[in-house]
Amino acid sequence: MSLLLLWVPSLFGADGEKVFETYCWGCHHQTAVAFGPPFTEIAKKRSAEEIEAMITDPEAVSKVFGYKRNAMPAFKLNQEELDAITRYILSYKNAKVQ
Ligand code: HEC
Repeated sequence: MSLLLLWVPSLFGADGEKVFETYCWGCHHQTAVAFGPPFTEIAKKRSAEEIEAMITDPEAVSKVFGYKRNAMPAFKLNQEELDAITRYILSYKNAKVQ
């Protein structure tokens, strides 16, 4: 029974593409530059920790990343959504840049 319960989160885990479409799509595209940089570019230069930090605290992190402005709002995602969107972004590491 406990084993079954342990499996439940992964069965109903957040879908990175859904998180992207819900929260990020207005400003980021997977391979093309939009208001924000494309996931292909982010995946090449950032670690999972850096991506998660940017999503939860962009005001602090964008400065560390060298941006002069902070145009990205902070998102309150749960850990599953954060993991899912981070995996989704990193999956574009080897995608072709447009
Ligand atoms: C309102 C527009 C907007 C939305 C919505 C948005 N972003 Fe951003 N994002 C930006 C901009 C603009 C930047 C470039 C840094 C800056 O100017 O603040 C950025 C930068 C980033 C970076 C760092 C880029 C780098 O240099 O590595 C990551 C990671 C990121 N966004 C992820 C996300 C994710 C994930 C979502 C959805 C949960 C999201 N963003 C939603 C506008 C947005």
